[in-house]
Amino acid sequence: MERKEALSRITYLTAELQRHNRLYYQEDQPELTDADYDALFLELRELETQFPDLAPPDSPTQRVGGAPLERFTPVRHRRPMLSLENALMEGDLIDFDERIKRFLGLTSGEIEYLCEPKMDGLAVELIYEQGLFILGATRGDGTTGEEVTHNLKTVGEIPLRLDLPAPPPLLEVRGEIYLPLAPFRLLNREREENGEAPFANPRNAAAGSIRQLDSRITARRPLALFCYAPGEVIGEEFESQSTFLSTISGWGLPVNPLVRKVAGAQGVIDYFRTMSSERESLPYEIDGVVIKVDSYRLQRELGEKTRSPRWAIAWKFPPRQGVTLVEAIISSVGRTGVVTPVANLTPVELSGVTVSRATLHNWEELEKKDIRVGDTVIVERAGDVIPAVVRVLPERRTGAEQPVKPPEVCPACGSTITRIPDEVALRCLNLACPAQLRESIIHFASRNAMDIDGMGEKYVDQLLRLDLVTTVADLYRLTRADLMRFDRMGDKLADNLLAAVEKSKERELGRLIFALGIRHVGQHTAKLLAAAFGTMENLAAATAEELLTVREVGPQVAQSIRSFFVNERNRQVIARLFSAGVTPQITAKQVGGRFTGKSFVFTGSLTRFTRDNARLMVEQEGGHAAGSVSKKTDYVIAGKEAGSKLEKARSLGVTVLSEDEFLDLLEEAGEP
Ligand code: IVH
Repeated sequence: MERKEALSRITYLTAELQRHNRLYYQEDQPELTDADYDALFLELRELETQFPDLAPPDSPTQRVGGAPLERFTPVRHRRPMLSLENALMEGDLIDFDERIKRFLGLTSGEIEYLCEPKMDGLAVELIYEQGLFILGATRGDGTTGEEVTHNLKTVGEIPLRLDLPAPPPLLEVRGEIYLPLAPFRLLNREREENGEAPFANPRNAAAGSIRQLDSRITARRPLALFCYAPGEVIGEEFESQSTFLSTISGWGLPVNPLVRKVAGAQGVIDYFRTMSSERESLPYEIDGVVIKVDSYRLQRELGEKTRSPRWAIAWKFPPRQGVTLVEAIISSVGRTGVVTPVANLTPVELSGVTVSRATLHNWEELEKKDIRVGDTVIVERAGDVIPAVVRVLPERRTGAEQPVKPPEVCPACGSTITRIPDEVALRCLNLACPAQLRESIIHFASRNAMDIDGMGEKYVDQLLRLDLVTTVADLYRLTRADLMRFDRMGDKLADNLLAAVEKSKERELGRLIFALGIRHVGQHTAKLLAAAFGTMENLAAATAEELLTVREVGPQVAQSIRSFFVNERNRQVIARLFSAGVTPQITAKQVGGRFTGKSFVFTGSLTRFTRDNARLMVEQEGGHAAGSVSKKTDYVIAGKEAGSKLEKARSLGVTVLSEDEFLDLLEEAGEP
């Protein structure tokens, strides 16, 4: 192609892709299928490789892989985003309460406080003009943050338009973006398996996800938000923090349902105790509670210091940290062969949980932190199931501590260990490695994969010990007699396990693809692949070009899928699975599904499925999940506490379904 022609094509493609991004993310009205979008994207990328000097600086392709952070536009906050003073113990809180009473000249009575969970995430500001979400920014240094509108628009809970007859001319709302624990753990597992450094805690994961130049990466991380403070507001007056929160919640903005109004210091102390014990069962990380004088009149009277308001304080939970001894550093081999250093610790209790192992993530990190056998270290549980070593206490060293070198051979099978270029991880590349086999069977049987009820670590270890399995396909050839050889196995238990294995034969194709443990193919990608290719045969035969037409499949993923299916051993495992009677249920193709052309809106708090899954289920049937209700909406699925969207649906006469009714509809759609 000639330069001139290339330039005009690049200009056209750039404008088109930008328009489709807008349609997809902002207006929620995509015109293209994912495959058509990806084709345009790939064409542009191809041209830009041929003519690098013609690539526009704002090209949609530049966003893949993260350009330098300077590219975010700075945003000056109209009002500074202050931070909070910390209380670390009860006494600090009592001092705070007394200071306030003194300042206000109050000699009797109690102050009303609004208590809120302190979300461990990243503070952002959302700006709505005439009810329209026009800009979002991070807190930054409190005065100037970074514009991240494109990423915030991918957060499903953030309304792009407030459902109000007369929205205020200006509404700035502040809140905390966070990543719930379940997707955080999943993300870290995927990162470790892909040889990438995992995030130390959900807060870092949320921050890393929001500060992405490619909003498609952000879109894949199910971020969430709770709003907790006003910025500049024109056209609306609020009396108190509690009325502010209930009002904006009515407008469709997410507000934490655990906020409570309490009286005086004692009320706060009771709230703090309740939240301390509820903390462990919440689906997200909180690191304390925030206490605010409820009345805005009193807040104004109390005013602000330079960095923090006088009317609020953050009462932090004690960190889930402890000091203990590193007894040994061992290598553990994961499902994809990644060899990770793990510290065996002298058991220590961290807020109710006894910890005796900590992940050291990778050998580079081990070296950086200079952790040695015999070291006294600080360990912390930070949202992750497996705790991490924060740092060494060098002052406790005696000189007898032993540094550990990365292993040269796999501790499980003795094969030579390889360092893959561009990865921090070391890998054992032996596919028959028993450690990998163990992990891959556990993964295959796990709940999100083939969901073989009861087939956990304990039984997998017995299967391996008795040499009953050499690949996952052998699971389907187990007999009752085989199982009866297990320690402490009874008739009933054996029958249950066999029944669970049998039942798993008919899982959906997406689950089977995920269960195979192809590198870079997570649960979500597996479902998209199932929807796009329909059968395992089609997927196995797909060329890299065909794979690249699936949204979210980039060159690295396509390559990994190709290598998986080219491998003779993997093909045999799949053939053996099928000959043993595994018959994956065909997922409907995106085009021609029963929901083709239908538009769905999910609102309220969903309990039967996540928003992401709901979207996926709809898309698999060819439908579209939108963010806001309009005349074009076909169904609104209302969870608990559904608000304005539900009202709007009713006023427009749109069919409203409960979550269960939606699942029924989905089942009908799935029938031939
Ligand atoms: S209010 C002037 N409320 O904690 C009041 N902050 O240490 C500003 N945070 O930067 C904040 N949950 O990132 C407030 N319910 C909550 C919060 C909360 C988490 C964070 C926020 C803030 C930091 C202050």
